[in-house]
Amino acid sequence: MESASYVGRVLVVDDEQDITTVLGDVLSAHGYATTSAQNAQDAIEAYRRDTFDIVITDLKMPGLSGLDLLAAIKSLNPDATVIIMTGYATVETAIDALKKGAYDYILKPFKIGELLQVVDRAFEKMRLAAENIQLKEQLALLRLSEAVSSSLSLDEILSIVVETALKEVDADGVEILFKEPGSVDFSRRLASGECVGENAAADCALLEKMFKESNAVKLSGESLKTILSPEAKECAGAMLSVPLRRGSGILGMLNAFRKSDKRIFLPREEKALFVLGERAAASVENALLYSDLENAFRETIQSLALALEAKDAYTHGHSENVTRLCEATAVEMGCGKKFVDTIRQAGILHDIGKIGISGVILNKPGRLSSAEYRIIQSHTQMGKRILENISFLRDVVPIVYHHHERYDGTGYPEGLSGDEIPLGARIMQVADTYDAMTSNRPYRNGLPHEHAVTELERCSGTQLDPKCVAAFVKMCQKQQQV
Ligand SMILES: [Fe+2]
Repeated sequence: MESASYVGRVLVVDDEQDITTVLGDVLSAHGYATTSAQNAQDAIEAYRRDTFDIVITDLKMPGLSGLDLLAAIKSLNPDATVIIMTGYATVETAIDALKKGAYDYILKPFKIGELLQVVDRAFEKMRLAAENIQLKEQLALLRLSEAVSSSLSLDEILSIVVETALKEVDADGVEILFKEPGSVDFSRRLASGECVGENAAADCALLEKMFKESNAVKLSGESLKTILSPEAKECAGAMLSVPLRRGSGILGMLNAFRKSDKRIFLPREEKALFVLGERAAASVENALLYSDLENAFRETIQSLALALEAKDAYTHGHSENVTRLCEATAVEMGCGKKFVDTIRQAGILHDIGKIGISGVILNKPGRLSSAEYRIIQSHTQMGKRILENISFLRDVVPIVYHHHERYDGTGYPEGLSGDEIPLGARIMQVADTYDAMTSNRPYRNGLPHEHAVTELERCSGTQLDPKCVAAFVKMCQKQQQV
């Protein structure tokens, strides 16, 4: 149904071989590809093995009946189109079959023209349904594209892909796995729903081999058991796996699971997941490239900050100390990972504005004149100017800019007070003050830890935020106990 040249596939089931032969010939002459089965059991196996657009089955057969076959096929594929052939005597049963999901019935003996009319009509209905599904898929992809194109964050993109996959293929669980750069193994990056335990659910090496032969791997029953981990085996009844391909390589895989008491995945769901995987692979590749670029840029700036600091023998190690103390205090305060990452970067970069200040002033051993002090103070402004145009450092800028504010409003550059000062900057004031007090200077030795803590507590509520001081002191006590 993908194109005008598509050949419809029909499975003809009748215990009378003459009928399957005649029907096969007629349908073939009319442009359909047919397969025949002499009983329902063989037909079920053929249906599991192959994809058919239409099933035409006799109602009365030895063993499983046409109604049994209808039920079995509908449980495998609720969208299946099944046409029942029956004699006049069982017309009520045929009507019953319609209620159970058969598309139509044909009374035996039938004229070839009548049969072709029913088959053509069924095929046309399926073509329209397929177009409708295609439209829905395109809409889902459009929504996905809009969402991922507005983000270059890999985590955000993966989360959108997993949630879209759960919905579009009606899965109970979806996981996305990646090959880390330089690794041959896949590891899970994200999972949502059921049948996806802590570890990668499937034998990824085997799946990768299977990808080489086909675009998607669809498994159920015994073949599924050979590939799943014990925990997934307990839960999953069907699995659909598609590669995230870039060029000739595989970046990762997108796996969808359905619980054991549910139906297998349908061809249209297989196609939807495959298209989703294709779209996701392109977005993921962009995000990875952007992330590499971002990391390289971040490392360059950090190296610059550390190189600047290395010029000054007395503050050597200051940024690294402040970073470590800020990070530990933020963790003690229960801050989230994103915040901790931000304050870590701010710690390394907080004095980067000093790059614009003469070494003569920076390293002056004696007292600074008020003009020199104003120049030193300008490093917060300069730091902001250096960093504010770098989009991925936008959360770092307020911490760098305000790290010399004071809780009571007597600091600089804006004279902010209390909660007006960003939390990261309030934490940094404590860490920065502590490190300044405990480090040696040309004109004095650093204070011992206990004296520095006493001094922090003395300034708590005036110069420093009491909550940050309390967390800092608690964090130090814990570290000393280790
Ligand atoms: Fe500073």
